[in-house]
Amino acid sequence: MTIFAKITGTGSYLPKNRIDNFQLAEKLLSKGIETSDEWIYTRSGIKARHFSAPEEMTSDLAVEAALKAIEAAKVDVQDIDMIILATSTPDNLGGFPSTACIVQKKLGITNDCAAFDVQAVCSGFMYGLHLANALITSGANRRILLIGAETFSRILNFQDRTTCVLFGDGAGAVLLEASSSPGILSTAVHADGSQTDILCIPGYAKDGVIEGSGFLEMDGQAVFKLAVKVLEQVGQEALQKADLQASQIDWLIPHQANIRIMQSTAKKLGIAPDHVIVTVHDQGNTSAASVPLALDDGIRSGKIVRGQNLLLEGVGGGFAWGAACIRY
Ligand SMILES: CC(C)(COP(=O)(O)OP(=O)(O)OC[C@H]1O[C@@H](n2cnc3c(N)ncnc32)[C@H](O)[C@@H]1OP(=O)(O)O)[C@@H](O)C(=O)NCCC(=O)NCCS
Repeated sequence: MTIFAKITGTGSYLPKNRIDNFQLAEKLLSKGIETSDEWIYTRSGIKARHFSAPEEMTSDLAVEAALKAIEAAKVDVQDIDMIILATSTPDNLGGFPSTACIVQKKLGITNDCAAFDVQAVCSGFMYGLHLANALITSGANRRILLIGAETFSRILNFQDRTTCVLFGDGAGAVLLEASSSPGILSTAVHADGSQTDILCIPGYAKDGVIEGSGFLEMDGQAVFKLAVKVLEQVGQEALQKADLQASQIDWLIPHQANIRIMQSTAKKLGIAPDHVIVTVHDQGNTSAASVPLALDDGIRSGKIVRGQNLLLEGVGGGFAWGAACIRY
């Protein structure tokens, strides 16, 4: 019998502190940096983002999202046999110990299940999905908790208006279980290491302190161009592998970085704008959390229903990107 990996529960969490563009512009002005709601919204589609409290770590956001996914899937936490957590903002420097292990402890899971982080920046959730699907369909695992969680506010340079207005914090989680019915239909992930410089944190640890900049840096226009190109390619690849036409996709759930990238990708793939889940206006770019946050939003708002075909896409630093077709 063919084994599929099926999403049996989703959950998400946004920090309470919601900052709209007007509030952010005011904060930046106090540092002598000028921006406006109009500039941010017309370039990115972002109206607001959520920033975690000083004591709120990535693992805390991840746990809140995971608890909702576990509740929706109606599973006992001790039956989870793996935790995969996608993040670029782990609780500890160097991601050591992994934030997944911290989440395992905070969830009270005592069954020694495997737990590790995936680092593929904004496509981390797609990489995690690719792995989880392979592990479940091979029979190696039966119940995987996959989380995308970020506290990007900690790595934003609030002196750099070209980046700090675009990102936010949040977490999204899915419970994936072995099932006789589909399921994840296809996954595809890729990377191009020749583009490491266009979106990165250049600093590194030396003698216990950060050498160079510990802030996110980005060449916005280079990222924009590459993102549009690879998202179309990988979307087509995932459709082909799943033997689906774009017209059979009920919902495109793209990485929520920028409304213009999302609209352009949907158009190139031949998916109508009203079949795209959009959360970027209220969340900004939450990196590895953005796809599972949008998925949970689509499900809980009643747009996405069982039996529909979904196309998920992620892209970001590395450069790394990926896509998946799912029968929900
Ligand atoms: C970042 C991005 C919104 C910038 O838009 P853009 O049209 O390329 O804008 P530019 O960088 O050319 O800047 C245009 C002007 O706006 C100014 N500007 C930049 N940020 C600004 C801000 N927050 N507020 C006001 N003005 C700003 C620039 O200084 C520049 O001014 P100048 O012409 O006087 O030099 C756009 O490149 C983008 O969306 N890139 C993709 C980013 C992304 O999605 N990254 C994550 C991928 S995972």
